[in-house]
Amino acid sequence: MRAISSLLLLAALPAVLAVKTEDFKTCSQAAFCRRGRALSERAGQDPNWKSPYTVTADTVAISPDQASFTAGVRSSLYPDIQFSLDVRVHEDGVVRVRMDEVNGMGRRYNETTSWALIAEPQVSRDVQWKIGKQDVRAVYGPKKDVEIVIFLSPLKVVLYRQGKEQVVLNGLGLLHMEHFRKKEEPKPAPEAPEGDVKTDDAQAVMQAPPNPRAWFEGETEDGYWEETWRSWTDSKPKGPQSLSLDISFPNHGHVYGIPQHATRLSLPTTCGDNSYYTEPYRLWNSDVFEYLADSTMSLYGSIPVMHAHSADSTVGIFNAIASDTFIDIAQPDAKSTYTHWISESGILDVFIMPGPTPEDIFAQYARLTGTPALPAHWALGYHQCRWNYVSSDDVRGVQKRFDEEDMPVDVFWLDIEYAEEHKYFIWDKKTFPDPKDMINDVSELARKMVVIIDPHLKRTSSYPVYKEATDLDVLIKQKDGQTEYEGWCWSGSSAWVDFFNPKSWNWWKGLFKTVQSNSGKFAWIDSTTDVHIWNDMNEPAIFNGPEISMPRDSIHYGGWEHRDVHNLNGMLFSNQTYQAVMARTNPPMRPFVLTRSFFAGSQRFGAMWTGDNLGTWEHMAVGIKMVLANNIAGFSFSGSDVGGFFGNPDPEMLTRWYGVGAFSPFFRAHAHIDTKRREPYLLEEPYKSILRDILRLRYSMLPIWYTAFREASVTGLPVVRPHYVVFPQDINGFEIDDQYFVGGSGVLVKPVTEKGATEATVYLPENQVYYDYFTNYAYRGAKGGKSITVPAALHQIPLLIRGGSILPTRERPRRSSPLMKNDPFTLRIALSNAGNARGELYLDDGVSYAHKEGQFIWREFTAEKQGKTIRISSADLGKAKPAEAVDGVALVKYNGGNTFAKSMDLVRVEKLVVLGLDRKPSRVKRVDGGELDWSFTAGTAASDGKEGTASILVIKNPVTHIADDWAIDINA
Ligand code: NOJ
Repeated sequence: MRAISSLLLLAALPAVLAVKTEDFKTCSQAAFCRRGRALSERAGQDPNWKSPYTVTADTVAISPDQASFTAGVRSSLYPDIQFSLDVRVHEDGVVRVRMDEVNGMGRRYNETTSWALIAEPQVSRDVQWKIGKQDVRAVYGPKKDVEIVIFLSPLKVVLYRQGKEQVVLNGLGLLHMEHFRKKEEPKPAPEAPEGDVKTDDAQAVMQAPPNPRAWFEGETEDGYWEETWRSWTDSKPKGPQSLSLDISFPNHGHVYGIPQHATRLSLPTTCGDNSYYTEPYRLWNSDVFEYLADSTMSLYGSIPVMHAHSADSTVGIFNAIASDTFIDIAQPDAKSTYTHWISESGILDVFIMPGPTPEDIFAQYARLTGTPALPAHWALGYHQCRWNYVSSDDVRGVQKRFDEEDMPVDVFWLDIEYAEEHKYFIWDKKTFPDPKDMINDVSELARKMVVIIDPHLKRTSSYPVYKEATDLDVLIKQKDGQTEYEGWCWSGSSAWVDFFNPKSWNWWKGLFKTVQSNSGKFAWIDSTTDVHIWNDMNEPAIFNGPEISMPRDSIHYGGWEHRDVHNLNGMLFSNQTYQAVMARTNPPMRPFVLTRSFFAGSQRFGAMWTGDNLGTWEHMAVGIKMVLANNIAGFSFSGSDVGGFFGNPDPEMLTRWYGVGAFSPFFRAHAHIDTKRREPYLLEEPYKSILRDILRLRYSMLPIWYTAFREASVTGLPVVRPHYVVFPQDINGFEIDDQYFVGGSGVLVKPVTEKGATEATVYLPENQVYYDYFTNYAYRGAKGGKSITVPAALHQIPLLIRGGSILPTRERPRRSSPLMKNDPFTLRIALSNAGNARGELYLDDGVSYAHKEGQFIWREFTAEKQGKTIRISSADLGKAKPAEAVDGVALVKYNGGNTFAKSMDLVRVEKLVVLGLDRKPSRVKRVDGGELDWSFTAGTAASDGKEGTASILVIKNPVTHIADDWAIDINA
């Protein structure tokens, strides 16, 4: 009961301090967090602690359709204040718990879900609530083994599965929704009696009356009405309105998620005995200069989603709140986890995702906030960025060098220096005199450009974008709600568009049009539809604002304060940019928008990166963990700056960083303006050739990546998957966050992030063969898991294929990915211990939305051992899996002979490589035809489970059309 609170006192690790931490608040510097933690401390010290919140029994109501339970809630401390509670079960078993103050003196922010959710979820019709004296409960689920119980006094909400507690809200009694109240004017001090003031009577008069609520709320009104931090004063016109809530997972020893933090995937504790950190995790989107590689500090984005995991089950919660939030994590024992969420404002709106598998959680979360958008295929290629390519000729020169060195690249990027005085959209014509010609030179090789558009607008009427925003009155306001907010950013004195204002949306779209309309409004006619967009600084970053951001009492559309919506701000910006880029063409093309700031739901609008990392080994390593955390929180399309943003990595570090990038969903090199140029062609040998090989490796594996992205876009499953997701019952894998699987392909990678490494240890979670991707060496896992050592010299990336997988690749080096469109495929068939394998390939035109109309190829490849024969075949998955997923519409419209599939008529399978046959075949033939051209190399790995090189059967030109059904028999 008391764990999180009492353990808090014992937390002893000294805080790790480094550059610029002083720019950001710690919990003890934020009044609402101080109050939340103090509440937890008081609870920890009081063995009889009991939450004052109770459900008023006579208000309990079940809606006529049984859809939801509602009730009034009161705190015994403030009997006159009313709260409403609403608990409902969604069709898929997710439970939504909402609580708000009603008839109060103010309005708590309740619109977070209107931005984060894709739609109002359907409520289950299959739930029967039972109202008891002490609780209200409902059993549900296909097996009727899930139960949601609302205990009335004190209020507690528990989700059980098979009678075991999965998620408990307010189990520790730390729920506190600070109601709106009037500031009491200080009473005049009573006059002291004349004479001897030390009499007992006189002292009694001087003392304030005892505060009966102090046991719960503390003795003082700590920072209720105003708060000054460094040189900023927050006026807090609504007074205290924080929300404290404990969420426990009594049967789950690991928690993951709540990105973005530079930390491990399995989140270390922040309080309690031997806690790893002392500061709670914070979610307050921030531009943290030279951030730490191991810290709970908030970074650029926030996704308040947490998974709790054990070998029994996985559960999750999505705490839909967009204000400043601190989260303490304690682990009273290895089997349970307590968390305490302290937010500055907003209603209580928690979604409990019952799992019970990680896959279920991904689907449940995707039904709430959407799946990641399927990116344009080219966006999975390599992106070359730096701050800055300084002129159009510079861009041309860089492109030329890539081509001379035969290094593939898809996208060249322009940072802020392209824009005259950092007025985005406006080219600096001194250095970029011919922007359209430059873009066309790039797109001639089927490449794209990405250009930065930041949210701060230079405040000068000669800047049409600012002028139009002012005329339209869509800028964020100061605390008076009238005057435009002004702050400093790259463009000097700047203003910020309020994307919460619907009036801004169409206008923003208009700016991106590449042709002039009759409206006379600004359109980016100096660009083309081959330009896509990078949204940076959208936390928003404001150089002279508190915590490098906007004052909390600034006012947005609808009168909401910035404090309420801060963590949503970045998402609204990238959302509108995404819509704008899509609206440039008819029919629309898939936009690419990179955002630095994000929230739950941002996955629908593009990609993110981990911001301004440092060129250090620690940052390289933590970048992988951050990308994994983002992936399990629904936002797969993520990566870190390859090379590190700050610093000049030596060639070894840079080489390893490309190994990390090539196995990140988003693969971009980027560097600070003060760094030396470090494009891959600039390196000496052998580094240059290694980088070329890594780039080519990424391109050859694009079919695997694209198939994984497509699956993510349909099911919500992450593109890169940590061990606990793939092997949820293997306890040895729960903390692994330096190796991971690429989609469902069976590719297991462990990028090297250590200086001087020549080998690496890889954990194999099962009794299965794993093949080295490059050497075909067959490693054997073992039941219960086993670690192996693999070669990892500079030119080697530990990359394994899980036995039982079939990988489609394209092996011809090209200059950019669209040029691979008609290239043939190779299928690597990595047989399992049992001699079977399976894989998938998804293909479409890569740029349009025709796939939503069924224009795609989706194949399933299988290898099945039937007696002495192994049959390898390809079947149409689109036909086999009708309408099972979120975008089921596309599957309904699918037919194998669609125009896209026909356009791929010339695309062959040029090679099948079968790994792990236990003997040389006698015959290899198509089931509907004759003998094929094949060769066999015996391996040293024996079929009885010994390690050694696998045998390799190569079958040449077996299939003339990738979209065909075919079958090949390998006879022993
Ligand atoms: C901050 C971004 O994080 C960085 O990537 C970019 O280069 C600079 N802003 C300049 O735009």
